Amino acid sequence: MGGSTVLSGKRILLIIGGGIAAYKCLEVIRRLRDGGATVRCILTEAAQQFVTPLSVSALSGERVYTDLFSLTDESEMGHIRLSREADLVVVAPATADLIARMAAGLGGDLAGTALLATNKPVLIAPAMNVRMWEHPATQRNVAQLRKDGVATVGPEVGELADGEYGAGRLAEPATIVDAIETALGQLRVVPGGLDGPLAGKHALVTSGPTHEAIDPVRYLANRSSGKQGHAIAAALAAAGADTVLVTGPTHRADPPGVRVVAIESARAMLDACAAALPVDLAVCAAAVADWRVTEVADDKIKKSGGPQTLKLVENPDILAKLAAPGPNRPALVIGFAAETEDVAANAAAKRGRKGCDWIVANDVSQAAGTFGGEHNTVTLVTADGAEDWPRLSKADVAARLADHIVAHFAKARAKTRGKASGGAS
Ligand code: CTP
Repeated sequence: MGGSTVLSGKRILLIIGGGIAAYKCLEVIRRLRDGGATVRCILTEAAQQFVTPLSVSALSGERVYTDLFSLTDESEMGHIRLSREADLVVVAPATADLIARMAAGLGGDLAGTALLATNKPVLIAPAMNVRMWEHPATQRNVAQLRKDGVATVGPEVGELADGEYGAGRLAEPATIVDAIETALGQLRVVPGGLDGPLAGKHALVTSGPTHEAIDPVRYLANRSSGKQGHAIAAALAAAGADTVLVTGPTHRADPPGVRVVAIESARAMLDACAAALPVDLAVCAAAVADWRVTEVADDKIKKSGGPQTLKLVENPDILAKLAAPGPNRPALVIGFAAETEDVAANAAAKRGRKGCDWIVANDVSQAAGTFGGEHNTVTLVTADGAEDWPRLSKADVAARLADHIVAHFAKARAKTRGKASGGAS
């Protein structure tokens, strides 16, 4: 069961809406409980057409709440207590109807009143038909909810239950849990926003893959999900840092409180990073494409042209450029390394080659199961040596890295103070 330090001991109120994807919530509940969280569920009337209170209750290990007017519910646990005794309220699937009711502040049922009564952060995972999602009314409602501070995860693009294709799929359970961890991670570190231990610091994080165009419709890419980089940006923002996240194309929700710059190519990522300078710290977690095609074709390359050979040229190394000495060099530059053997030794060599201060070395050997997975097995390599971390969720790796960064700046501050007082006496 491992557990997750972010989820451990947290209380989630999960409001399950009526959609064909409601069954995915069972997996969300299982994962949250595996991480050590308590999950209480409200099922809307429509949700009960798709999942039964019995199965939800069996998985959550808690009684399930369904009816606003049930006297027992109200006497045992009214909607106000239900929504306040949670650390986070999650709505999944958030149907077009639920979203509209939330945006309008309607409280006609238990879900509506709990959402109105809550003083806790709310995360919604929309799911519906693509036309319903794209409808101006839904888009207007979602924009309103975002303005109200509600976080969103998904919807994802793909084949929908009704056979259509497009945006509207409920985010996968792992992605929803990831967004929950991000939202909770933010609570964990900064109760007061600007009072966090990194308040006043500027941070730059790169994340995701880059896409290198071949012609107007094709590109070179890699499988990076952006999960680790986004989690780091969230953890730094949660610790109070003014954080810019420069990200390649991913399906991840924007981490709360982070300024996100979306780019596609390595060169665009470099430009966006340069524009974000000066910063106090930079974390390069992106899987930047090492190569791009020498010349991007203006028109779509036709099959009739026969077999093609792509000529590649090396992309700029963003990490090395950020870490190069100069007036704009961040005080702390952190890179990642994907290693399969001699993790610490290879990472130490990479640290020297790139000129960065720390390397977070990922063990990407088959046995570690890092790629595309939920967990990371990491060795932190600094000037002082290598520190092996246990297998952790990516959110926990981010939280732990943020803790190390906080400690690093605290130490640097103490040193400066020590020097200053030493000089004065
Ligand atoms: N990086 C970068 N710009 C590049 C290439 C890599 O900023 N053009 C950064 C990545 O964000 C990461 C680190 O450099 O922080 C990874 O270095 P890289 O040399 O790509 O190493 P590995 O991915 O470990 O792979 P290999 O050693 O096999 O090249």
